[in-house]
Amino acid sequence: MKPFDCGDADLNGFLLNDAKRFAETQIANTFVIEEEGNIIAYFCLLNDKISKVEVTNGTWRKVKKKFSHEKHFSSYPAIKIGRFAVSLSYKGQGIGSKIMLFLKYMLRDENAYSAFRFLTVDAYLSAIPFYEKNDFDFLIPDDDNKHTRLMYFDIIRLQ
Ligand SMILES: CC(C)(COP(=O)(O)OP(=O)(O)OC[C@H]1O[C@@H](n2cnc3c(N)ncnc32)[C@H](O)[C@@H]1OP(=O)(O)O)[C@@H](O)C(=O)NCCC(=O)NCCS
Repeated sequence: MKPFDCGDADLNGFLLNDAKRFAETQIANTFVIEEEGNIIAYFCLLNDKISKVEVTNGTWRKVKKKFSHEKHFSSYPAIKIGRFAVSLSYKGQGIGSKIMLFLKYMLRDENAYSAFRFLTVDAYLSAIPFYEKNDFDFLIPDDDNKHTRLMYFDIIRLQ
């Protein structure tokens, strides 16, 4: 693996030590973006769901409203962005947002086998402005977890 530093030791370590094993054991797939031989960013994806038992009643009502003309389910399919990181040398230049847009269209247009409605992410607190700028909303109004907030994006918003 080529060198990569996004400023976060866990995210750097995942790419170096875990990404390959996660793919081999079918836990998560990692996508690396390179420019002129340098890794400028990576993200990893796995299957997920937004389920009634995991969110507040208010949030669930908001999710259900999106399916008002159909039978309601106790969960809806999602894809989780397990990791998302841009190299420090490229940070703050709009590259993360461009990759996020590419990722959304890639998943919507090329996922011909299994349906999903939402993207989810456990956003680092420092990265929340980035996800908000990329149209993610909070899934749980007052997340207890002090390190991350669960956020989601409705893929239908692309249409
Ligand atoms: C978060 C991250 C992926 C954003 O990538 P990026 O290429 O720097 O993002 P962009 O340049 O597209 O920024 C878009 C918006 O995100 C926000 N943003 C980006 N980095 C930010 C930071 N460090 N702190 C606060 N807001 C930030 C800003 O609102 C920015 O909008 P602006 O350009 O109008 O100021 C990148 O900074 C990174 O890899 N950080 C370390 C790892 C991390 O936190 N990953 C997320 C794990 S959940």
